[in-house]
Amino acid sequence: MNRQVNPSIAFTRAEGAYLWDTDQNRYIDFHAAFAPHLLGHNESKVNNAVESVIASRSSLYGSGPNELETSLAETVCQNIEHVEKVTMLNTGSEATALAIKLSRAATGRQHFIVVQGGYNGNSDELACNVFNTIAEIGERVSPGEYPLRPLGAGTVINEQRYVHVINYNDLESVRYVCQRYPVAALITEPVLQNIGIIGPDDGYLSGLRELADELGFVLIFDEVKTGFRHALGGYAEICGVKPDLVTYGKAVANGYPISLLGGKAGLMDLLADVDPGKRPLAAGTYNGHPAAVAAAIATLGILKERGGEIYSRLDTLGRAAEAGLQQAFESRNIVGTVVRLGSAFSFYFMDHAPRDFHDLLTNHDFERDVAIRKALIDVGIYFIPIATKQCSISASHTMDDIQCMLEQFGKCLDAVA
Ligand SMILES: Cc1ncc(COP(=O)(O)O)c(C=O)c1O
Repeated sequence: MNRQVNPSIAFTRAEGAYLWDTDQNRYIDFHAAFAPHLLGHNESKVNNAVESVIASRSSLYGSGPNELETSLAETVCQNIEHVEKVTMLNTGSEATALAIKLSRAATGRQHFIVVQGGYNGNSDELACNVFNTIAEIGERVSPGEYPLRPLGAGTVINEQRYVHVINYNDLESVRYVCQRYPVAALITEPVLQNIGIIGPDDGYLSGLRELADELGFVLIFDEVKTGFRHALGGYAEICGVKPDLVTYGKAVANGYPISLLGGKAGLMDLLADVDPGKRPLAAGTYNGHPAAVAAAIATLGILKERGGEIYSRLDTLGRAAEAGLQQAFESRNIVGTVVRLGSAFSFYFMDHAPRDFHDLLTNHDFERDVAIRKALIDVGIYFIPIATKQCSISASHTMDDIQCMLEQFGKCLDAVA
């Protein structure tokens, strides 16, 4: 459903930074399929790894672990300090749901905290409160919590009595909820990247760490979107705050379906506890599928070998995009702010970078945002036509691609002014 957008384009192939549709129109892709394609589409080393694992007659055994999984687990644990143990699943949603279950099993508590404007997957309890109207959630509250608003129909409201929604960048509300309920976990994207890019205030993430230590809840960083895109160790490596558990997906295998849940050994060991009463269920027929595991090994191999060069190149391209977009707004006297983190960027029709969801909701021009995205698609620049959605640069983009995007962005800004 989230792929059903207007205009609806049937793409037939993709290579590097480009997409082609059924009429052979080419688009420079800044959507990257909601961000996995960090290295670009159909990266040859990643594809070769998948082809050779199939050619080697490796298969899905349904019993394990096997050599490939062990190799991926070793790579992750050796390169990410706060991941002492790791398990493999297929989607980000499975990883975040399991992280919550594991936190409950570890603490014996049932309540957990999520952040307004964060997306943590499609499971019943987690799928709530990303985009809402003021009528739905009310004005900004601090300290306090927002009414829970499921992301769609069909969820059992009773089951959601354990979920508490608070504001991003709001430590007081964490304490507020913890004083009222036995909280097992707080799960958050360290940077909110599903409503553009909203970053942490100084001291916010370290403040979460301190509160988790003081109040005994499990701190989960949902790095499904930020992981590997910003650094091999995700945003945790950049901010220097270590979560207890972390989830990865998307960029970990450059577009192949695999996700990871990792973290402190003391927690992760529960997944293999001999006592079924203590062990959360982490089942999945396709967990550790060799094609996806091979893709992840190849992706991480590239990032280990050339990460320094790749991340610095992405930053250079990102910086050019940021400066050019900001200039496009300023030279036309159109109110706009560009926010960027490495290879991810967003633009807002407002005079400052949003600090939280309410700030965004009350100041951004959502209609103009969608209008410019549609205009860009018409001229071969693919920004997903959903307001505020992050744009992603891949290692396959060139400075020419960025310049071409900027040129068209300026023209489209004129058209939607
Ligand atoms: C931060 C975050 N967490 C979890 C998910 C869910 O991942 P998936 O769509 O692979 O289930 C997403 C997907 O966009 C995400 O951005």
